[in-house]
Amino acid sequence: MNITVIGTGYVGLVTGLVFSDLGNEVICVDIDPEKVRSLLEGRPPFYEPGVEELLQRNLQEERLHATTELESAVRHADVIFITVGTPPRENGEPDLRYVEQVAQEIGRALNGYKIIVTKSTVPVGTGNYVRRIIEDHRQGDHEFDVVSNPEFLREGSAIYDTLYPERIVIGAESQRAALKIVELYAPLERPMLITNLPTAEIIKYASNAFLALKISFVNSISNLCERVGADVTQVAKGMGYDSRIGAQFLQAGLGFGGSCFPKDVKALIYSSQKHGLDTTLLQSILDINEQRAFDFVERMAEKLGGLKGKTVAVLGLSFKANTDDVRDARSIEVIGALMQHGADIRAYDPAAMPNFQRIYPDLTYCRSAYEAAENADAIALVTEWNEFKQLNMERIFKLMRKPFLFDGRNIYDPMRMQKIGFEYYGIGRTVEAPLLQPALHGARG
Ligand SMILES: NC(=O)c1ccc[n+]([C@@H]2O[C@H](COP(=O)([O-])OP(=O)(O)OC[C@H]3O[C@@H](n4cnc5c(N)ncnc54)[C@H](O)[C@@H]3O)[C@@H](O)[C@H]2O)c1
Repeated sequence: MNITVIGTGYVGLVTGLVFSDLGNEVICVDIDPEKVRSLLEGRPPFYEPGVEELLQRNLQEERLHATTELESAVRHADVIFITVGTPPRENGEPDLRYVEQVAQEIGRALNGYKIIVTKSTVPVGTGNYVRRIIEDHRQGDHEFDVVSNPEFLREGSAIYDTLYPERIVIGAESQRAALKIVELYAPLERPMLITNLPTAEIIKYASNAFLALKISFVNSISNLCERVGADVTQVAKGMGYDSRIGAQFLQAGLGFGGSCFPKDVKALIYSSQKHGLDTTLLQSILDINEQRAFDFVERMAEKLGGLKGKTVAVLGLSFKANTDDVRDARSIEVIGALMQHGADIRAYDPAAMPNFQRIYPDLTYCRSAYEAAENADAIALVTEWNEFKQLNMERIFKLMRKPFLFDGRNIYDPMRMQKIGFEYYGIGRTVEAPLLQPALHGARG
C-alpha cells in the first residue's frame, strides 16, 4: 500500500517505520526541514530504542522516504496518517492548529479516493471536523473517508508496541475505509476493534485517563503507607495479583509526566465540561499528581534540615526511562522546587541532558551518576533508568558528603541501602519501620 505519514515525531516516525518494514511504500512528511534532513541521513531526530536500525534498513531498501513536500506525498498515497502534535492550551483544550493546517493541505492536494486517518490524540468530534475541513478545501469532487485510529505506543518501547499492539482501534464511518485499514494492519495479527469515529476517539482518552487514575490512586495509598509503617510496594503487589485490578501502573512514585497523560486528562476534563458533566474524579487525578514532586522535595528539606546551600544529585531527567523526552517530566518540578529551596544541583541523565539544558541551561550537568554524587548531601532519584538500578552503590556512598538517598521510584532495596550506610527514603515505605532504621543517621559529614 502507498502510505503517507504527516508529522514525523515519536508517533509518526515509528508508524512510518513499521509500515515500511512490513513492505509498504511510505513517505514521512514533516514541516521541519532539519528533521527531514536528519531522517534522510539515517539519523533519528530523537532517542528511541530500535529506531535507528529500522530507519537505516528501510531507507536502504528504498521503501521509506522523507520530505517536507506535503502535496506530492498526499497525491502518492492511498492512506494518509495525521500524526502531528496536539499540545494543550492554557485551559486544557487540545490545540488543533496543526491538525487543521494539515487537513486543509490534504483537502487542496486531494486527487482521488483516499483514507485520512487521525492517529494524533484528538478530542471527540475531531474526525468529523477534519472531514468538514477537507470538504471545504478540496478542488473537485474527489471522494475520501476519515478514520480514527488512536495510538497507544509508549515511548521507550515504541517499536515493540507498534508491532505488537494489545488492540488496534479503528473508528470508521464506511465499510470501505474500515476494511482497507484492517487489511493494512492484518500482518500484525493483533485484536482489532471496529467502531464509529467518536467511540474510537473516546477510547484513547478514557484509556489514558484510567492509567493515570491508577497511578494517582496508588500514590494516594502510598501517603497512608508512609504514615502507618506499611510498604506500598507490597500493597500494590497484593492488589495486583487480583486479575480484576492487575499489577501494571500501580508503582508509587513521583507521579506521571510526559507528553500524553497530563495533557490527555486535561483534554478529557475539557470535553466533559463542555457537555456540562461533573469532572471531580478526573480533576483529582491531576491534583494528586501535581502534589507529588512538591511533597518529595519538602520531605528532603525536612530530613536534611533545610536545603539552602546543600548539594543534591538529581538522577534522571527524562519523563521515564529509555527516552530523551522531557516534556512535562517530573524532574522539571523537582528541580524547580529544589532551586526554590536554595539547593545546588548536580544533574545526570543517560539520554535527556541536551533536551533538559534547553529548560534549565545553568545547572551543573555531569557525565555519570558517580560524578553527580561527588560531595553531594543527597541523591534524588527521579527516573527509573536501568543504569541507576545497576550502580555500584558502595562507590556512590563513598563519594557523597552526606548519605541521604531519596528514591522517588522505589528502585532500590531499602535494607540493602541501609546496610551500605545510606539514610534511605523511598515512596510509601517508611524508614521508621523496625527493619529500616537508618544505621548511620548523622554519622557522617
Ligand atoms: N509520544 C507518545 O508517546 C504518544 C503516544 C500516543 C499518542 N500520541 C499522540 O500522537 C500525536 C503526536 O505526538 P508526538 O509525541 O509524536 O509529537 P511530536 O511533537 O514528537 O511530533 C509531531 C511532529 O509533527 C510535525 N508537524 C507539525 N505541524 C506539521 C505540519 N503542518 N506538517 C507536517 N508536520 C508537522 C512536527 O514538526 C513534529 O515533528 C499527539 O497527538 C500525541 O498526543 C503520542
